Order: sequence, then C-alpha cells, then structure tokens
Amino acid sequence: MTPPSNEAGQSANALDNLLTESRTFPPSAEFADKANAKADLAERAAADRDAFWAEQARRLSWTAEWDQVLDWSGAPFAKWFVGGKLNVAYNCVDRHVEDGHGEQVAIHWEGEPGDSRTITYADLKDEVSRTANALSSLGLVAGDRVAIYMPMVPEAIYSMLACARLGLTHSVVFAGFSAEALRSRIDDAEAKLVITTDGQYRRGKPAPLKAAVDEAVAQTPTIQKVLVVKRTDTEVEWTEGRDVWWHDVVADQSTEHTPESFDAEHPLFILYTSGTTGRPKGILHTSGGYLTQAAYTHHNVFDHKAGQDVYWCTADIGWVTGHSYIVYGPLANRATQVVYEGTPNTPNEGRHWEIVQKYKVSIYYTAPTLIRTFMKWGADIPAGYDLSSLRVLGSVGEPINPEAWMWYREHVGANRCPIVDTWWQTETGAIMIAPLPGVTACKPGSAMGPLPGIGAKVVDEAGVAVGKGGGGYLVLDQPWPAMLRGIWGDEERFRDTYWSRFADQGFYFAGDGAKYDDDGAIWLLGRVDDVMNVSGHRISTTEVESALVSHAKVAEAAVVGATDPTTGQGIVAFVILRGGVEAGDDVVKELRDHVAKEIGPIAKPRQIMVVPELPKTRSGKIMRRLLRDVAENRQIGDVTTLADSTVMDLISSGLNKGS
Ligand code: WT7
Repeated sequence: MTPPSNEAGQSANALDNLLTESRTFPPSAEFADKANAKADLAERAAADRDAFWAEQARRLSWTAEWDQVLDWSGAPFAKWFVGGKLNVAYNCVDRHVEDGHGEQVAIHWEGEPGDSRTITYADLKDEVSRTANALSSLGLVAGDRVAIYMPMVPEAIYSMLACARLGLTHSVVFAGFSAEALRSRIDDAEAKLVITTDGQYRRGKPAPLKAAVDEAVAQTPTIQKVLVVKRTDTEVEWTEGRDVWWHDVVADQSTEHTPESFDAEHPLFILYTSGTTGRPKGILHTSGGYLTQAAYTHHNVFDHKAGQDVYWCTADIGWVTGHSYIVYGPLANRATQVVYEGTPNTPNEGRHWEIVQKYKVSIYYTAPTLIRTFMKWGADIPAGYDLSSLRVLGSVGEPINPEAWMWYREHVGANRCPIVDTWWQTETGAIMIAPLPGVTACKPGSAMGPLPGIGAKVVDEAGVAVGKGGGGYLVLDQPWPAMLRGIWGDEERFRDTYWSRFADQGFYFAGDGAKYDDDGAIWLLGRVDDVMNVSGHRISTTEVESALVSHAKVAEAAVVGATDPTTGQGIVAFVILRGGVEAGDDVVKELRDHVAKEIGPIAKPRQIMVVPELPKTRSGKIMRRLLRDVAENRQIGDVTTLADSTVMDLISSGLNKGS
C-alpha cells in the first residue's frame, strides 16, 4: 500500500524526495573498531530477549535482584524486573563517587549570561542529598507528586534526582508553558509541592517565572509549598507559610542522606504530552526498566565512553529528551556533560559552537529544527570555531530531511562523525529506532531500524507487516523496558490511545506513518493523527482549537499543521468570529496572544485566517486535509464528502480578498 495520508504531516513532495535518497555512510574502520556496540549485540538480543535485557539491567546497581525479567500477563500494563529493588538517584550519582570518580565533572553548566559552574560527581552527591533532606523537611514522603517548573539551572537537575532518591514522583512542566498549563498539570497529578525560580533568562533578558506559579497555585487545592530558587533577582510576590526560598531550606541541610531502595516498578515520573484531544496525557514512567533502557541506549547509540567523552544534549528538561538524555541515561553512565541554560543565538549565533570549542564536546545531540536554523544562519558560523573534538552527532524530535542531515554532517561533523537519527516518544521513554554508529551504514534522513532488543514494524491497515518498499503505520510489537506504564489516572485512555488500533495483534500504535525502503531501512513520515510537530514539540490541533474558542470573540476554530521550512510544521488556525466582531490585525494579534497565555508561546499560531465557514463532513467532522491545502497554498483536494461543497470556494475567495 501507499503511505497513509499524513493527517498532520509533510507534503507529498517532501516525502518523495526523502524516499529517493540512496547515499549511505558506513562507519570508518577506526570508529567501528572502538565502538561500544558491535554487530553481535543484535544477535544476542535476538537469541534471548529476556536474557539480553537482564544483561542490560546489570549496568545498574540493584539492592535486590529481580525474580522475573518481564511480566506481560497484565498486558498492556508491563512489569519489568519484577521483585528487583534499586534507588535511581544512587545509580546516577553515589555509586560513581563510591567507585572513585567523585572528582570527575558531571556537569559543565553554562548560564545564558555567561556565568558557569563546574559540578563534579562529589558535588552532585552533596547537592542532591541536601535537596532530598530539604524535601523531607517540607513533609514530602515517597509516592507524593512534585511539580518542577524551572529553567535549565543545576537546581532543576538536583530537584529531579532528589525526588528520585526519595521515591517522590516528579512532573516536570516546561517553563515556557503558561500558568494555566501548569495549573492543569498540578491538578491532574495532585502535586503537593512546586519547585520554581524567581525568573528565567530568555534571549538575554530576565523574565518572571514565579508569577506564573502564583497564578496557577491560587487555584490548585493540593499545593502546600512553593520552593523558589533565586536565579535572576527578579522581584517576586511572597505568600508567607507557603513560599520558601531554596537558599533558606536547602543550603544548610546535611550532605549526608541514605538512599532507600524502591521497587523496580515504583513511579519515577509523570510527563505530560499532547494527544489528539484537548487534554494533555500524563505519561507514567517507572524506575528499573526505564533506567535500564535509558542507560543502554545512551551507551550504545551515542557510543558514550565514561571519563573520555564530553556529551551535550541540547534539549530542555521540560521534554522527555531532557529526562532520558540529560538526567537519567547520561548520569547513570557517568557522563561528563554540558548543560546550557539559554537560547542558541544569545549573545550571537555561534554560541553553541563556542561551547563545543570551550568544553571540547565530543557527542552532540540536537533537533532537526535547530539544524535547519543553523543552516539559515550560514555555514561560516560553525566554520569559525574549532569543532574537531566532535565524534558523534545525534538528531531527535521529527524526521530529519536529507538536506539538513548532509549539512550537519559536513558543516558540524566535518564529514567524519556518524549521525544517529533517533526515533522515540515521550511514551517509549528511551530511544527505540536508531542506527548503531559503529555498525550501521547510515542513510541521510532514515532512523534505519529498531535497536537490538526492540521490536518495531511497519504494518498495513489490517496490521500485517508490509514488505520492502511498502508503507503504512509504525507499531511496536514487543514490550520494552522503558515503556510507559499508563496514563496517570486514566486506564481507559491508555488502552484506547495506544492499544486499540491493533488490538488483535497486541501492537502498540505509535501514531506515526512509516515506510521501508528497498533495503528494509525505516523512514519515519510524520504523525498520522491530529498531532502537530512544531520544532520537535508535540502540540495537538484540538488543544489549540480549545484555546481559541475559549476567547470571547471566537465562534469556531480549526487548526492544522502546515509544512514549515524551519520548524517542520507551523500552526495555522482558521477561525470564525462571533457576530458583530470585526476581522482585522488587532483581533488576530489578540488571539495569538490568547493562545500563548492559555498554552504557552510555543503554541502561538504562525498564522490565523478569519473565515466565514469551516469545511465539515456530513457528520460534522472538520476536514483538516482541505484546510491544509489552503495553508500550504496548494490546489484544494477532493471536496465531495463535504456537507456543503461550496464552503471551500467561500473560504478561498474570502482569503484572496485579503481578510
Ligand atoms: C513524536 C514523539 C522523542 C523525543 C522528542 C519528541 C516524532 C521523534 C523522531 C525521529 C521522525 C520523530 C514522532 C513521534 N519523532 N523523533 N527521529 N524521526 N519523527 O518526543 O514529544 O513524545 O514526540 O515525535 O512523530 O511520534 P514526543
């Protein structure tokens, strides 16, 4: 069959270009020779999957060995390493100090304004212990939920690890999200504590952050304390009895703290992500299996070598990439890593390369949207820095177009670094599909194939695997250690969202379209549902629509993701205004700001078009496909299933008049 119609996805042309790509880049003999992962890894995994994952789990230090590797009897709810006990923070911090690596740098932290801090593993142990003691002193006990709403400061990482250490379940909320987004996440998880900062640096200037917490917490019944790190010296309002300064409650705590062991299935974190409905889903991850796969993939996909490499993942801890590939995977593997607080063009467009040069970064992991932005800024910018320390480059978040892949290879990697395109999701917890840099001959734009131990397939509508050259839906046909253990508080939605589409086969439906090329390599083609991907961030069309219709001037709204040369997709909204409201620039600006306030600036539509009608089927479903044709300036497709086939003429003629 042909690839499924890409509901939120790229134009047909872009996909055609992607699929004619035939260049391959095998690893150099030298790289292959020294690589962590050799070809036998896949053979071992195929021979005995459970034994393979047990072997991977031994990367960690357990206080009680498991009795069973996988219990899938309660599918789709998995239990991994049943009966095993461990402390996640101990694994990421203390054991490295006990092994004699206390003096090794864990984090080279680089603040946006140019301040920096060097944090060794011994320092990290002290800070995480202090933070854990402080959280206990605030009355939190294992099982409680803690919201973390912070910029990329070291205290954010201490907070996550302190939660892990105490068995508290953290819910990190991206600091670019609105007060309203924070409020709904706090309420859903019934968090007792929020950790935040007074303000955050954004493009060189301090912006308030605690103010949003104040607004959110005014309406949340469960929050008892707000713990505030001073970062920008921004003035804050203070609620006595509720608000506490980090420097008051953490600084004087003891650096001694004995980690308790928790069950392998103890909830480690909840992370909210957008689905096809307006309400974000709280994706639940647990401890032993999650950490096993985060560490396994970080070791093999990035070829990470402890004590030698300097690793840098440019994500924010507000996204899953920051959880698995800044905090848990790298620290479990005793990485020395760069953590950068700010934006890539502050104070200038060479900031990332200056950091690579300064710390001799050897592994660099970023997103296609940023690579395309670097392309726009020009190759002479990276050319002005010494990037010779780099040896592995990674990509994540959306399909990387071959052109961006080749640019990355040439202008960042000097044609010598393998590029690993890593496909995964908030739900999968860790990388699922990616090349092994010392084994796989990579193709520009392809994530290649499932990692050893992982089962992924492309299937047709009926759930039957397609052959080479065939397209369809991406499914995961085997449980995996870092898989989500559910949606917080909503078992039904969990079954329904991921497990009902291919219920007969028991496959996990990822929501992505994919295709095999003639060699059997997998090419991801974007989402097949109403989820947009803007700069590698998932935003649901319904969520933006709900935000728009919550404005008094809007009667109806429909949102689509239109192909965007830099951000992958851009948000385009079509709105019908209420009677008596005049269309114009003012109302468009007002609506864009309203969406930013409701969800966050990342959800601001690129474009809002005021229209008299929306195209709907007879059953009332909005035909986004047609709106996407308009948004992408294409010939409008088949309108025969519209309830009123003249609607598209009405929309187009109105737009041509420039309303
Ligand atoms: C969706 C998951 C995984 C961390 C960042 C995003 C898309 C992600 C790739 C890739 C093609 C990709 C998919 C997926 N996606 N990585 N390498 N190639 N598409 O996590 O917010 O949970 O989004 O991002 O569509 O379903 P997320």
